[in-house]
Amino acid sequence: MSMFLDEFAQAPGLRYLNHAAIAPWPRRASEAVARFAQVNVRLGASDYPAWLATERRLRERLARLVNAPSQADIALVKNTSEALSLVAFGLDWQAGDQVVISDEEFPSNRVVWEALGVHGVEVTKVSLAGPDPEAALLAACGPRTRLLAVSAVQFASGLRLDLPRLGEGCRARHVLFCVDAIQQIGALPFDVQHAQCDFAMADGHKWMLGPEGMGLFYCRAALRPQLKLHAYGWHMLERLGDFDRREWQPARSARRFECGSPNMLGACALEASLSLLEELGMAEVGRHLQLRVEQLLQGLASIPGVHLHSPVSPEKRAGIVTFSLAGQDSTAVYRSLMAEQTICALRGPGIRFSPHFYTSEQLIDEAVQQIRRLAMR
Ligand SMILES: Cc1ncc(COP(=O)(O)O)c(C=O)c1O
Repeated sequence: MSMFLDEFAQAPGLRYLNHAAIAPWPRRASEAVARFAQVNVRLGASDYPAWLATERRLRERLARLVNAPSQADIALVKNTSEALSLVAFGLDWQAGDQVVISDEEFPSNRVVWEALGVHGVEVTKVSLAGPDPEAALLAACGPRTRLLAVSAVQFASGLRLDLPRLGEGCRARHVLFCVDAIQQIGALPFDVQHAQCDFAMADGHKWMLGPEGMGLFYCRAALRPQLKLHAYGWHMLERLGDFDRREWQPARSARRFECGSPNMLGACALEASLSLLEELGMAEVGRHLQLRVEQLLQGLASIPGVHLHSPVSPEKRAGIVTFSLAGQDSTAVYRSLMAEQTICALRGPGIRFSPHFYTSEQLIDEAVQQIRRLAMR
């Protein structure tokens, strides 16, 4: 683990606790981008096969990261919202069909389903506040339910759902299971097969430590042909690169969802970031992150007036801890923290802290001390 610490070169004094928003890059991502820039300046695309090799490595890494059966199951997409839209506007809906989501989803995983209202699709929003949120979600799935769409980890509360239980429940009810996994992939292990996901998606700029605008879309192979395509171009063809051919078919692989030229710059950066996560291994990444979150939770619990909005049990959380201070306006607390270079977010009912595996114990201690001081003012 210590060998990876050199990878993170954030400005002295900065306490970065905002990986659930946008993560800082590791050094190797910045170096990969600098190298790619130099190649572009000096050689243009003279060695295009090398670019393709990077893209291929990225797809393979993403497939391993989510335990997809094959790299052919992974499409490279702009972001989570695009992938959710590929599902929502790819499926064939009937008026009266129902989609079940939770009532605390990030807008991307709500708006896309609400937009299907024009086709007569109804969206049911389930509260996750009770003792058994998974049971509540499955209980809301009735005979007209076509799909259950949830975030693996809620962006504001940090609640992590039991995906294998939901996946099994969906399979038993013949309901499609779609997981917005942006707040879990790269933070904790994630397994599309174990969770029986039909669809899963995430952008690279949070826990995967990559840039914005380069994400993954996993689509279970048997469902690929069922998603209607809405974007066409040279890159999504089965015979990629055969420019003179007049007959065409969409690629059988998930490349069918990638209509034109890839985001090669983003691929360079994310491929490098993921190489770091793979070298350490997601089990270790997750273990270190859980230790930091545990430390943060204990520190906050020792401060009078801290009200925690995130679950404390390890199986119900990932990397997000959200809290507020009794009698204090969270916006004012947030501004004070940011002014003192503790980078965090204002989300839902309070302040959201999100460390990553490499965050030091000392950084967490300092942030807890800041909260202690703020709680006393
Ligand atoms: C749960 C969740 N889904 C989706 C998004 C947005 O994803 P993207 O910008 O990749 O579409 C976020 C961003 O914060 C999020 O927290």
